[in-house]
Amino acid sequence: LKVFSGSANPKLAESICQFLGISLSQMEVSRFSNDNLFVQIQENVREKDVFVVQPFTAPVGDTIMELFIILDALRSASARRITAVIPYFSYARSDKKDAPRISIAGRLMADLIKTAGANRVLTMDLHSDAVHGFFSVPVDHLTAVPYFVEHFRRQLDLDNAVVVATDAGGAKRAGRFAKRIHLPMAIIDKRRIADTKVVQGLVVGDVKGRDAIIFEDEISTGGTLAESVKTLTNAGVNSIHVGATHGVLCGPAVERLVNSDMASVVVTNTVYLPPDKQREKIHTLSVA
Ligand code: R5P
Repeated sequence: LKVFSGSANPKLAESICQFLGISLSQMEVSRFSNDNLFVQIQENVREKDVFVVQPFTAPVGDTIMELFIILDALRSASARRITAVIPYFSYARSDKKDAPRISIAGRLMADLIKTAGANRVLTMDLHSDAVHGFFSVPVDHLTAVPYFVEHFRRQLDLDNAVVVATDAGGAKRAGRFAKRIHLPMAIIDKRRIADTKVVQGLVVGDVKGRDAIIFEDEISTGGTLAESVKTLTNAGVNSIHVGATHGVLCGPAVERLVNSDMASVVVTNTVYLPPDKQREKIHTLSVA
């Protein structure tokens, strides 16, 4: 078994290797002067079971292209089985034709990952469960739910807690978390009016005087959470904690989280959190 890492999250790949008791396999990734990528696998992978760790983080286009070329290089080098480990699959947010003349880019990416050479995909907490079916190679769709359950059981008194989904689309995901942590659930009515702007209305469920645990797949700009905090505060919650698998944290996200009334925010290491985005309030769980 060999594990390679693209440039998106080498720290996660190293943690996985540490867990497995093996060293990270070596390859060279560089650029020609015209910006073309060059990848050379620097170990013999003939007949090996090979894993490539590359979550789809910014700059997403470069990250994906790098994965394609790594997969192709491994195939050319006669690896027996190639698994693309994409713990954060950003294009899962493009999962339906909800406007005219657009691409369902999640489906396109699934096709291209296979074309590039992956025999199998390993991913985590996809934004939409339907995306699993976009792939024509086997997919292991893992979840970070057990890590969040363990974390909140350790950190909070759950006697008066309630799990909150920030919209109807996330209700199934939050429901799985609520079931596993044995808590009731509430749902906020949310409408997204632009990439960075959401509006919320009613809360369906009993949250007054309770400690709310919002459970999400990802925090991108933090707009959903900022609105959720306002909505839940108006509904009279006692405190607000957040668990989200993918801490994408782009644009104003970090400041929004820091300046909001959330008591704590927990993400996992599927997305690398650089030092300039690390804050005391934001905790990271390892899914390695
Ligand atoms: C939305 O449908 C997702 O479950 C997340 O709520 C969303 O991706 C978060 O995006 P943002 O942080 O930009 O509101």
